[in-house]
Amino acid sequence: MKKKFILFLIITIVGTVVILSISFTNYQKQSSMLREEIFDKCEMIAIELKHTREYLAETIAIANMEHNETTRMLMPAMAGNEIGRKFYNSTGYQLRQISSKYRNPKNNPDKFEENALAEFEKNKKLSEYKGVDKISGQKVLRFLIPLYMEEACLKCHSAKETIPDFIQEDYPEDKATDYTFGDLRGAISVTIPIDKAEAEVKGHLIHMTIITTVGMVFLVTFITIIMNIMIKKIDSNKI
Ligand code: HEC
Repeated sequence: MKKKFILFLIITIVGTVVILSISFTNYQKQSSMLREEIFDKCEMIAIELKHTREYLAETIAIANMEHNETTRMLMPAMAGNEIGRKFYNSTGYQLRQISSKYRNPKNNPDKFEENALAEFEKNKKLSEYKGVDKISGQKVLRFLIPLYMEEACLKCHSAKETIPDFIQEDYPEDKATDYTFGDLRGAISVTIPIDKAEAEVKGHLIHMTIITTVGMVFLVTFITIIMNIMIKKIDSNKI
């Protein structure tokens, strides 16, 4: 009887260890899949804003639109700010345009964004910079794509004397001038919180692990009882 109980115990412990290790590997796999999925989402959001910006800059240039107070809300950066604000309000995802040589101090990069800009500066072929970060205690995924100076951008970002007057007046501390074609101008920066999504994956796996472990213990107990009955029957037949 004692031997059978020890065997039962060993099978249960080994089974539980196997289930736990499978669950752990599963958790790691699902977490990394979740991150990749969110990074893909970030990329889409960033590219979408990049195209919107380019379209606005080109349209302004083609239409030879006067750069003044009235048309200012159509400027790529202004439109980007407003899209970013609306986007944040409806999704909780942060969408920013940043630059170390900023025109608006609100677009000043943080540490992670500074590192990204340094990498883009070092390697012009680098098309994205991503990673995990913590902001105010919250775990977030961060994703940046570089913005380079194009022909249409020069109107407002080349020599100070040549840019529209109202920009000179509105941004007395403007650092975003004297750029030339092809220069790294800054980046589009997307930040998405992942605490909640990761907790959901974890919760689901813990749930599954508990159910599987309980199921396994029941199965082992059931098999042990059946085997006991059969062994007893065989023994009694022998007698
Ligand atoms: C019509 C003028 C105009 C054009 C054209 C323009 N910009 Fe700007 N840009 C601005 C203004 C004004 C700001 C500051 C907006 C704000 O207050 O946030 C700005 C800000 C930015 C920023 C945010 C960082 C900062 O300096 O505050 C980036 C990045 C940027 N521009 C890149 C570009 C690129 C790339 C192009 C071309 C595709 C472009 N801009 C074309 C006027 C312009």
